[in-house]
Amino acid sequence: MKVGLVREDLLSHETPLLVIPVFEGDKELTGPASRVDELLGGSFARARKEGDFRGKEDDFSLFYPPDGEGGPERIAFVGAGSRDEADAEAARKVVARAVRRAESLSVVVLTVHLAIEDFGGPERTVQAAAEGGVLAGWDFRELKSGQENGSNGDMGGRRISRRQASQPPPGEPPSPVVEELRLHLDGGGEDVERALEVGVAFAEGENLARALQWRPGNVATPAHLASVALSLADEHGFTSRILGPGEMQEEGMGALLSVAAGSEQEPRLIVLEHRGGEEDQAPLALVGKGLTFDSGGISIKPSQGMEDMKYDMSGGAAVLGAMQAIGALGLPINVVGVVPASENLLSGKATKPGDVIRTRAGTTVEVINTDAEGRLILADALSYVVDRFRPQAVLDCATLTGAVVMALGHHAAAVLGNDDGLIDEVRTAGELAGENCWPLPLWKPYRKQLESTVADMKNVGGRPAGTITAAWFLSEFVGETRWAHLDIAGTAYGDARAPYHRKGGFGFPTRLLLEWVRSRIS
Ligand code: BES
Ligand code: MN
Ligand code: ZN
Repeated sequence: MKVGLVREDLLSHETPLLVIPVFEGDKELTGPASRVDELLGGSFARARKEGDFRGKEDDFSLFYPPDGEGGPERIAFVGAGSRDEADAEAARKVVARAVRRAESLSVVVLTVHLAIEDFGGPERTVQAAAEGGVLAGWDFRELKSGQENGSNGDMGGRRISRRQASQPPPGEPPSPVVEELRLHLDGGGEDVERALEVGVAFAEGENLARALQWRPGNVATPAHLASVALSLADEHGFTSRILGPGEMQEEGMGALLSVAAGSEQEPRLIVLEHRGGEEDQAPLALVGKGLTFDSGGISIKPSQGMEDMKYDMSGGAAVLGAMQAIGALGLPINVVGVVPASENLLSGKATKPGDVIRTRAGTTVEVINTDAEGRLILADALSYVVDRFRPQAVLDCATLTGAVVMALGHHAAAVLGNDDGLIDEVRTAGELAGENCWPLPLWKPYRKQLESTVADMKNVGGRPAGTITAAWFLSEFVGETRWAHLDIAGTAYGDARAPYHRKGGFGFPTRLLLEWVRSRIS
């Protein structure tokens, strides 16, 4: 989707659809929007008086101004909810709803008017609006015959006949994807241009993560993730290194290899380096679990819902999405992105419960349950990144435990780590991004649950506090390095929870990672 800023007079702006957000309880339209209802002969004022439009989040009224004057072809009002709660997330949501309304009208170009002081200042408003629009416009159509390019051809900003959509699924024909979003601002200086760029890049990064998530396990294999990473390196000038089984053997990555042992697909360890900062600046490290399909292994999962385990690479997808945005924006900081990628399947070569494996760090691990595989692939990735890059801080993200869904549901990821300051930074980044996380305690007594009789450690600590014991396991592989871990099993995918989501992968926590990286630029 193309996104641009417009500042011309609202009434003469030629656009197929002009959308104006209106807060609940606002008595009158303000600023440039106040003249719009003149064009409509006071129709909108009547809609409000009748109580048909109250400004609530799902409210929507559509009007057609008289022909022949130029200016907007359609004018719509969308509810923006309560003015008191109008933050960046409200801007994302209201623009997302505007884009989805355009989509169902088969209108592929729209303009959204923004009063830039309404959602927490010009820069945050513009960034969030761009994010909401670009996220809402994205759809995954590459595996639907005849719609592989997402849109249904060049509509030139006009409504197209629904008959043009090729091979519609049974029931509703698909709408064309929205191609262009214009943000009409009532002010703001030059900083908003950069804010727009940032918002677009962040959302496009998140959309890359979503595309990787949505791709099924037979498409998004470890080798596929590696090839996407290599194209990113090509495009943005990252240094890259891809380790296969041979290099993993040399590195002593017995944990990662033990997870891949049951699969025909070779594992990959993906390493991307962005050097935007000083030569001698220690990098930030982003590490993401890239388990491209988790059957559970010999400790096999129930078949109900197992198809969702294609999303077990969501952390890795977010790291790749974040790296894309970091490269596109040329952020002035050093960042390395690392993704251990593997399948977890069963075969005569698969690791068995009770097997003891040796990690890259030298620790031996008794594999009690082959379904606790994420922490194994992360163990080797973390010890590798810490030894090789001496990062100033490490942030990993992983769909690691079902237990985090019990603890926090679907509205917050868990954050744990060995440094309270870092945990605070990550929490703040999540708030800015609208991708929330909340701390769980990494207290010493929980560590006992991982003690093994035959090896240095077990890979599971029993049912109680599963998210915490999983994080304890990871912490063994970062040494003294400042580290935080996000358990995203409840937040990375699912039913849509925001108007910019679709049912499937959300790209979470791509934008959180990006806000955190940005917060560390000195
Ligand atoms: N990938 C799963 C975690 C998961 C569960 C992600 C539900 C998304 C939704 C992970 O590899 C796993 O299987 N964890 C086990 C660990 C257990 C065996 C200690 C779990 O949480 O059940
Ligand atoms: Mn598992
Ligand atoms: Zn898993």
